[in-house]
Amino acid sequence: MIQTLEWTDSGVRFIDQTKLPTEETYVTCRTHEQVADVIRNMVVRGAPAIGVAAAMGIALGVKNSEAGNGTELKKDLDQICDAMSKTRPTAVNLFWAIRRMREKFEYLRMRPVVQIKQALIEEAQRMHAEDIAANQAMGRHGAALMPASGGVLTHCNAGALATCGYGTALGVIRTAVEQGKKIHVFADETRPFLQGSRLTAWELMKDGIPTTVISDNMAGAMMRQGKIGAIVVGADRIAANGDVANKIGTYSVAVLAKENEIPFYVAAPFSTIDLETSDGSKIPIEQRNPKEVTHIAGRQMVPDGVEVENPAFDVTPAKYVTAIVTERGVARAPYQDSLRRLSEEPVKAGA
Ligand code: MRU
Repeated sequence: MIQTLEWTDSGVRFIDQTKLPTEETYVTCRTHEQVADVIRNMVVRGAPAIGVAAAMGIALGVKNSEAGNGTELKKDLDQICDAMSKTRPTAVNLFWAIRRMREKFEYLRMRPVVQIKQALIEEAQRMHAEDIAANQAMGRHGAALMPASGGVLTHCNAGALATCGYGTALGVIRTAVEQGKKIHVFADETRPFLQGSRLTAWELMKDGIPTTVISDNMAGAMMRQGKIGAIVVGADRIAANGDVANKIGTYSVAVLAKENEIPFYVAAPFSTIDLETSDGSKIPIEQRNPKEVTHIAGRQMVPDGVEVENPAFDVTPAKYVTAIVTERGVARAPYQDSLRRLSEEPVKAGA
C-alpha cells in the first residue's frame, strides 16, 4: 500500500505529492513547523491525510517540547495547535484532529510529561490506523452502489494519497474492482493543481485499474455519450444538511450528473462530517495563490496583470447528492436526519 504519511523515529515522513507522478520522493519533517509547511504547500493534501498529518505534527511538536510539567506543556500545545489550525481552512478533518489531540492532552494533563508525550504519539498513530479501517469499511458499503461494469468518473484525488491509505472515493472503486466489477475510471484532470491527472491516475495505474484521464471540460460530453455509469468523489467538509464542499469543479460535475441522470455519490469518513455547520454557505472556502492558475509547470499562461480567481473548493448542494457513503453506512436524503442518525450509532467492529 502507498505510504502517504507515517510516524518514524526521526520524524513524520511524507510522500511528496508535489513531485508526483514523475518523481517518487519522500520528505521527513522534524518539527511541527515543517509539518505545517508541508500541509500548506500541499506536499500532503486531501482532507483525511491533512487531519492525520496535523495530529502527527502536534505529537511531534509536543515530543520536541522542553516543558518540565503539564502546565508548561499546555502552553506549547496551544501554540502548536494554533500553527496547525492556520494551514488550510476548508478540510474540517484538520480541526477534528486538533480537537481530538487537545482532548487527549486534557485527559492526561496531570501525568508526567514523558507519559503525555508518548500517549499523544500513540493517539496520532491510532488515528492513522483508524483512517485506513474507515476507508476499507466505506469501500464495503459503497461497492454495492457501483455498476457491474463500465465507466465511473471521479474528480480530484480521493484515494490512498488523500488519506492514510486505500482512499475514500477510490476505496469504493478499489473494493468494487476487488469484488470483480469491471470498472473503467475516468479521472478529471482537476485544474489548476491537477490532482486527478497527476495523483489519481498514478495510484490507479499502480493498482492496474483501467483509467482514462480527461480534462475537466470533457466530463459533460462523456456523460452525454453514455460513457459514465456513476460518479464518486470525496469531500473536505459535509454540512449537517448534506451540502458537500469538495475540490473546485465538483459542483459542475454534480449538476451535469443530474442532467444526465447519473448517480452522484460522495464517500467520506465521519471526521469529514461537520454537524455543527448547518449548511454549505457557512463552510470557509480556501483561496489559493493565483499562480496556480496563471502558470502551468512554471510557464505563464495568462497576460501580465489580468485578474484571476483561485478558490480551491466549491459547495455542491445536497439536492445533487444521490448518497453519502461513510464508514458507518450509506446516508440518503434527507441528510439532516440520516447523517445525525448514523453519527449516533455505535461503531460496529469491522462494519
Ligand atoms: O486541495 P486538496 O488536494 O487537498 O483537495 C482534496 C480534495 O478536494 C479531495 O477530494 C478531498 O479532500 C477528499 S480526500 C479523501
